[in-house]
Amino acid sequence: MAVQDQFKRPLRDLRLSVIDQCNFRCHYCMPAHIFDENYTFLQNEELLTDDELVRLSVLFSQLGVEKIRITGGEPLLRKGLPFLIERIGEKTGIEDIAVTTNGVFLPKLAQDLRGAGVQRVNISLDAIEDDVFRYMNGRGVGISPVLKGINAAREAGLYVKINMVVQKGVNDNQILPMARYFKRLGVTLRFIEYMDVGSTNGWDMSDVMTKKDILTELQSEFSLTPVKEAYFGEVAKRYEYSDKTGEVGFISSVSDTFCGSCTRARVSASGQLYTCLFASKGTDLREKLRSGKSDEELFEYISSVWKKRDDRYSEDRANLKDKREPIEMSYIGG
Ligand code: GTP
Ligand code: 5AD
Ligand code: SF4
Ligand code: SF4
Repeated sequence: MAVQDQFKRPLRDLRLSVIDQCNFRCHYCMPAHIFDENYTFLQNEELLTDDELVRLSVLFSQLGVEKIRITGGEPLLRKGLPFLIERIGEKTGIEDIAVTTNGVFLPKLAQDLRGAGVQRVNISLDAIEDDVFRYMNGRGVGISPVLKGINAAREAGLYVKINMVVQKGVNDNQILPMARYFKRLGVTLRFIEYMDVGSTNGWDMSDVMTKKDILTELQSEFSLTPVKEAYFGEVAKRYEYSDKTGEVGFISSVSDTFCGSCTRARVSASGQLYTCLFASKGTDLREKLRSGKSDEELFEYISSVWKKRDDRYSEDRANLKDKREPIEMSYIGG
């Protein structure tokens, strides 16, 4: 049976960050003035090795994990990623291994990822207008490389969803154009409420477009009906276009929290285990992996961390805000 935390939430999902670097500098995630040429990213020897990642994945699968999401930074920047994923799939038997990426390297890697057993990719794209997107990714890159990535993923047979973080006054004018574009393509678009993750993005509640705001805007043009959740604890609230041309989703972790059903553990690229996206402190698994601990000892250790877990940051946001210095999004992978 899966191990349970203080609120009886089982450990079902593992979000594994494989690298802390990214080719983009989205303002809400890795602002360029902080993540500049003087910023120190993890050194090679600080990153978990492929063997360590495979070993951890097996242990987590024994603890109840059924779903693994590979994240970054930008995970496709990690050398040999398809082979690593193939090994994780083989050793754990887990079939649901997905990747969250900005899409730029998919033309090169989509086929190999599919071949390695990946079935689904979530691709981040915050605007369909070049100028807005150039600003948002902080690198002046237009939408074309991402659209090519989306195309490559679909051609390789990967199931694609698009993630759009919506910031009021920055890209909210892209809600309808994005919806039109991806409706036509038959690809699910998910609108993400801008979150107060990390401490560098200068988040303020007044920058958040809530699910309600976004839905109201969509309903000015489209007819949408809510869809029942596919499984307990689904992160996105889904709506279907009434003309049956597909779906949109909302990830409303600010206005409508979902901590009660949160079954997600996160491991950073340096092997820190976090029991919440907003945690300020992790548990060092790398040190345990490198100090000759047996699988049994590691199993017991991770199990004891999960059993103590009582995080529900989003639900307590108002009370906790000033007391924490949460880790950065690019370090924990969302
Ligand atoms: P699937 O539903 O399996 O496709 O993946 P996902 O939506 O959980 O993963 P993805 O990496 O695409 O994340 C989409 C958004 O949801 C990102 O902004 C994540 O930070 C956010 N998110 C995912 N899990 C959690 C969570 O446990 N808590 C909060 N607050 N946000 C989350
Ligand atoms: N708020 C909401 N979503 C965020 N992401 C990165 N930073 C934030 C934030 N502050 C999203 C990315 C990606 C996913 C992993 O998390 O756009 O789609
Ligand atoms: Fe990179 Fe994704 Fe962060 Fe943007 S949101 S800087 S693409 S990791
Ligand atoms: Fe899970 Fe923390 Fe997100 Fe709540 S805020 S859903 S506990 S990761």
